[in-house]
Order: sequence, then structure tokens, then C-alpha cells
Amino acid sequence: MSEITKEIKKRRTFAIISHPDAGKTTLTEKFLLYGGAINQAGSVKGKATAKHAVSDWMDIEKERGISVTSSVLQFRYGGYCINILDTPGHQDFSEDTYRTLMAADSAVMVIDASKGVEAQTRKLFKVCVMRHIPIFTFINKMDREARDTFDLLDDIEKELGIATCPVNWPIGSGKGFKGVYDRQKKEVELFSDTHKGTAMGEVKKIDVNNPELDWILGTEAKVTLGEDIELLDGAAAEFEQELVNKGKLSPVFFGSALTNFGVETFLKHFLAMTSSPLPRMSDLGEIDPMTEPDFSAFVFKIQANMNKAHRDRIAFMRICSGEFDAGMPVYHMQGRKEVRLSRPQQMLASERKIVDKAYGGDIIGVFDPGIFSIGDTLTASKDRFTYEGIPTFAPEHFARVRQVDTMKRKQFVKGINQIAQEGAIQIFRELNTGMEEIIVGVVGVLQFDVLKYRLLNEYNVEIRLENLPYEHIRWIENEGINMDKLVGTSDMRKIKDLKGRPLLLFVHEWSIRMTLDRNKELKLSEFGRS
Ligand code: G4P
Repeated sequence: MSEITKEIKKRRTFAIISHPDAGKTTLTEKFLLYGGAINQAGSVKGKATAKHAVSDWMDIEKERGISVTSSVLQFRYGGYCINILDTPGHQDFSEDTYRTLMAADSAVMVIDASKGVEAQTRKLFKVCVMRHIPIFTFINKMDREARDTFDLLDDIEKELGIATCPVNWPIGSGKGFKGVYDRQKKEVELFSDTHKGTAMGEVKKIDVNNPELDWILGTEAKVTLGEDIELLDGAAAEFEQELVNKGKLSPVFFGSALTNFGVETFLKHFLAMTSSPLPRMSDLGEIDPMTEPDFSAFVFKIQANMNKAHRDRIAFMRICSGEFDAGMPVYHMQGRKEVRLSRPQQMLASERKIVDKAYGGDIIGVFDPGIFSIGDTLTASKDRFTYEGIPTFAPEHFARVRQVDTMKRKQFVKGINQIAQEGAIQIFRELNTGMEEIIVGVVGVLQFDVLKYRLLNEYNVEIRLENLPYEHIRWIENEGINMDKLVGTSDMRKIKDLKGRPLLLFVHEWSIRMTLDRNKELKLSEFGRS
């Protein structure tokens, strides 16, 4: 095995998905603590104490009203080199959040034990399912009153349509939380509160048949555990690595990120069960990092220019194969020319640094003089190939946009097109009306403010946005369908995208079903091809 292949095999690149407040930041922090990348919890992004430690560019973004975009953290643990891709929630939710999932090889889903599956988890989960990547579940906050464990699993199975396989099982919750039972080893890991988890804590394990366990757990908890185990062994899905790899079975773990309980157990199992960098589809077939020796990567995110004076940007790329050397010449497929990737950067724990070497599985951000687009391929291979594009994700908020000064039409069109090309917004026009009206679609509402701000500051164009009631958009999969003959609902609107492809907008979700019923041959998709 070559040195490069060895490095790639060590890589584990995954995204953490959750609904805001489920504990994603806390869990990430604890991972870093075990990896030795930080020595005190509370030093990762998002926490009040640590905001300054995070990269300066984020502050600039904030000042400019631009959302803090997904970042990547790298650390080492147990011989692995781990890349965690952050998927921002709340207001910062944008198409970038979805695109980040395109760069991951697996996903960790954090669920609040008192809440179960929540809206944002559902959205992100759909993208993981589309890609068939492995999904691991960490049910967090067991130190608080939790919902019934069987109900929680049922919720995941029904809401997300994926089978679950509990690797461990909680004993009580909240004040009565005693620990977790390891189903394979048949031992109990006892809960100990590590004072908000600033220390790693001592892990105490005891065999389930050890009589001491009766008085440690108390009779009631012990009896319940016995009953649960019996039920589980009879009813729960068996662990099958093959199904996990295909994203059809999610191994489930329980714990409490805040008190640092169950985190290392999860990390160890997860790293062993998840895969090293996966092959990716290209126009020359699958490119496998284990057999493709040369560097290749694709761009999954572009961070807009931070400085008004220079239109420079940072292009984030996922390396898919080979080794990256700073300054090496690579071929940019879409630009049809050789380029040198300059100032490559990586986020290491909470700081950004310049890197000289990176490998398949890693994420780097490079200086972009405005030549890259989302989905572009870079390769050093003689057999030039292009990776499959990144789909366009369905926006959920729409507005009609007009420039205040009609004399500035040219700047307006130029600006809005450029911002759309960067992937921050999507723009549409009415189909067949000949009207020049522009409709903007965004995944997160904050993007509307970003659009307003950037058009004013970079293109000197003031705009007015008028919200539209549509919430659902569908791409039409049948090519050549007669749009005039389509029988829709009263809340439906026919539009087209930048490439002239027809789409449908709906106010209500049930209208989509009704439209499909009325037009039997119609095929709709939630994702657009790029
Ligand atoms: P997020 O990134 O998914 O949005 O969640 P985050 O980790 O910021 O956690 C949200 C809140 O939940 C935080 O409380 C955090 O301390 C708490 N939390 C996370 N994991 C656990 C857990 O296992 N048990 C309990 N009881 N709480 C947990 P906060 O009050 O909003 O912030 P802070 O005061 O802790 O900074």
C-alpha cells in the first residue's frame, strides 16, 4: 500500500446533523477533547467565550450580514484523521448546509432525547438518504427526562424511513439515569456526571450478570432493563454492516454530551463502523480513492468575497483521491485549463491554518479569483474526468425582487446573476409570459438580507423584496412535457430557472399530490440537476 493510500485510509469525513439545540456543538467539542485538539470544553465555535478564537473571516461575514457558513474541523484520534463538517442551523441555514452533506462520507444525527426527530433533522436527513451514505444516531441529553426509548426509535423509523439498531441501551433518564447497556459486550457503562464534562471522566463498566448491579441500579431499573433487553433481542434489527454502509440501517447510541457520558464509546464504535473516503461517480465511471493515485477534488462551497475592493472568494473543495501539494498544478475541467491552487487552508480545531499537504477525504479552502463554480472538478490525472454535479436543493422561501431605480437595470441583472452563480440564491422567471420579473428563491430567509446587502454594497443597486406565499418547488423530470397542457391547482405557478428549465411553485404541499393525480405522466423532483 502506498503512503498516500495509507493516509487516505485513516480519513473519516462526516457531517453532524441536528435540529438547533439538540447538542451538536457540545458533542463536537467533546470529540475534540478526546482527540486532544482542545483541552477544555467551551473552546469551539458558537460559544460566547470562544467567539474571538474563531477565524476572523467569520467576524467579517457577520459585519457584512452574511451568515456564518459551514466550516470544517480536523483532528486525530485513535490513529484516525477526522474531518468534521459543520452544518449550520437556525437562521444560518442555507443551501450551503445541504451542499456540505455532499462532501461527507457519512453523517452523525444528534437527537434530543426529550424531543425526538425535529424539522431540521428531517430536511438534512433527506439529503443523506438521497446519497445513500451511512447515518449514525446519537440520542443526546439522557441526563434530562427523556421520551420512552422505544417511542424514540419508532419515531426515527417512521419519520425518516430508516431501520434502527441500538448498539447500546439507556437505563432510565433524567434524575434516574444510571448509564447504558452495551448489547454486544453485555455490560453496563455506569453514568457519572463529569461536572459539565470539562474532564474526560473515568468510565466504569460492569457485567450485566454481576450481582452487584442489583444494588447499583436498584431493583426497579434492573427489572426494566431485563425486560427491555428481552424485547430488544426479539424485535430490534440485527446490526449488519452492509445495511449500515448503504444508509438503510442506523446504529443508535445513547448518551449525554454535556456531562461527557457515552461520547467516547460512541466515537470509538462510530469510527470503526463508518467508512474511509468513498468512491465518487464521474463521467468515466466510479473513481475509487484506493485505486486512483492522482489528486482529484470537487468544489462544494464558495465563500463570497470578503473584501469589497477585490472580488476574491474562497472555494472549498473536497479532495476525493490522491495527495494535494500546495501550489501544485491541477487541471480545472470546467475552466478547461491548468491552475495552481494557492493559499490552501484548513480549519484545525478552532484556528485556520495554511496547509502544504492534504489527502483524499480532506477539505481545503483555496483562493478563488472568480473562476470556480459549485460542482467543478479539479484533477491531476492524465485521464481527465468530471465528477457528477451537485444537485440544486429546493428553496422554501420566495420573493419577487425589483430594483428601486429602474435606470440601474444592467447592474441589477449582473449582480443578481453573479450572486446566483455563487449559489447563495436561486433566480427564476415567469414561464411564457414574457415578463421580466425576477423571482428569488432561498433555503434560509437570512439569504434575502444577504442579497439586499450585497447588491447595495457591491453593485450599488437598491432592491425591494415582496414575499410570495409559495413554500414548495418542484423540478419537472419529464423532458419535453407540454407545459401549456398541465392541469394544476389554483395555488400553482409555472416558472423557469436560469437555464430555461420549467418548474412548478406551490403554496400547499397537498397541491403537489393533486397536480400529480391530475397529470398522470408528470414526474416531479425535489432536487434539480446542476
Ligand atoms: P446545537 O449546537 O445543536 O445548537 O446545541 P448546543 O451544543 O449548543 O447545545 C444546546 C444546549 O443544550 C446548550 O445549553 C447545551 O449546554 C445543552 N446540552 C447539550 N448537550 C446536553 C446534554 O447532554 N445534557 C443537557 N442537559 N444539556 C445539554 P445552553 O443553556 O443553550 O448553553 P450553555 O449555557 O450550556 O452554553
